[in-house]
Amino acid sequence: MADKIQSIRGFADILPDATPAWRFVESTMQETLEAYGFSEIRLPVVEKTELFARSIGEVTDIVEKEMYTFADRNGESVTLRPEGTAGCVRACIQHGQLHNRTPRLWYAGPMFRYERPQKGRYRQFHQVGAEVFGHQGPDIDAEMILMTGRMLRRLGLDDVELQLNSLGTAEARAAYRERLVEYLGGHRDALDEESRRRLETNPLRILDSKNPDLQPVIENAPRLLDHLDEGSREHLRGLESILAAAGQRYRINTRLVRGLDYYSRTVFEWVSDRLGAQGTVCAGGRYDGLVSQIGGRETPGIGFAAGIERLVALVEEVGSVPDAPAPDAYVVIGAPSALGAAHALAERLRDRCPGLHLQVHSGGGSMKSQFKRADRSGARYALVLGEAELAEDRVTVKDLRGGIEQRTLGQQELATLFGGAAGNDDNRESGARSGT
Ligand code: HAM
Repeated sequence: MADKIQSIRGFADILPDATPAWRFVESTMQETLEAYGFSEIRLPVVEKTELFARSIGEVTDIVEKEMYTFADRNGESVTLRPEGTAGCVRACIQHGQLHNRTPRLWYAGPMFRYERPQKGRYRQFHQVGAEVFGHQGPDIDAEMILMTGRMLRRLGLDDVELQLNSLGTAEARAAYRERLVEYLGGHRDALDEESRRRLETNPLRILDSKNPDLQPVIENAPRLLDHLDEGSREHLRGLESILAAAGQRYRINTRLVRGLDYYSRTVFEWVSDRLGAQGTVCAGGRYDGLVSQIGGRETPGIGFAAGIERLVALVEEVGSVPDAPAPDAYVVIGAPSALGAAHALAERLRDRCPGLHLQVHSGGGSMKSQFKRADRSGARYALVLGEAELAEDRVTVKDLRGGIEQRTLGQQELATLFGGAAGNDDNRESGARSGT
């Protein structure tokens, strides 16, 4: 036998027993987004490398060491998208979507980062994200945050904590950065190698370090929140007052800095303590300078993205995934000569009963083994078609979940049983479909 080929490390298969949870998470998020007036945008998975370098930032972990970057056959440097915001902004500028408009957009799909795989962290992972353009005020920040809170509640996740911070304007951040470097420079000996390197490149990220030895130094560091410009301070106050009025709880986390460079003012993360180290399930913020940085007219923006793998792990843990619908009926083939008639019957029923969930037995076998399969399928009814039924042009209907006695029905009665008598769903006999 030839060697088995395995998937690439950090790239997961999503097997059939997991897909109901995925669909639950994705559809709940999409329905919520559309209920808040968002429209879907679909974007390429591959972009020019320069797009990410310019937006996420040259000295971020993502751009420095996590991108899947390669030269295409023409020698152009291209990258598998590590996130969705940059591509979304690029597309809006390219297609003139930002002129006299304030689009609300959502997207979903795979993202790629060459990180060290562990629980909740993959090299191919999936996001549902959203972006809104053209609004300066904190009201849109609040609405986005409230919407993400609603998504989580709809998923049955009530105990995810909202953390909030403001990164101020680029100028305020630059001034703070100097103070921070001065402070951290005074504690150089206490820093680890990574932090010493970051001191030169991206000192704010040191605040994000999980190294326990660094915590005392970080705790006493000057706080960005204390060095905000007045406009950003007011913006944050406005946001907090709307969240308070809407009854949304949050915690100000002055160390929340995010791993992408494009943010300004509001940043937020929803963090669960059920997932270990990778507890952030949804994160985002405002990026007022990004559109002009990528060549568009100055336009404020704000957005977020949720990690689907992490949300799926949570909904599976709390058990909020609805049961997949069971088939209404399973067709048992009573004699080999009935095979064609069984499929003809099934197709006629599918024509007449929209939404009918019907499985026809395949693979032969005794009646006993077919009934076993019918039972395992979860179907409410077994429809048996054998020699006797063929001769009479009728079907034996067995209620697999008890209740109704076995009987034989003509095709018309059968269609009625599954709500297809009048050719529509409205007069479906109550209880005829499983799950009702
Ligand atoms: P991010 O914080 O890099 O932000 O990613 C958002 C979410 O994606 C994370 O909170 C996490 O749930 C999930 N995620 C990130 N990396 C991985 C991974 N390696 N494996 C599994 N899940 C992961 C962004 O991507 C921004 N574009 C969000 C945004 C949109 N900001 C403004 N607009």
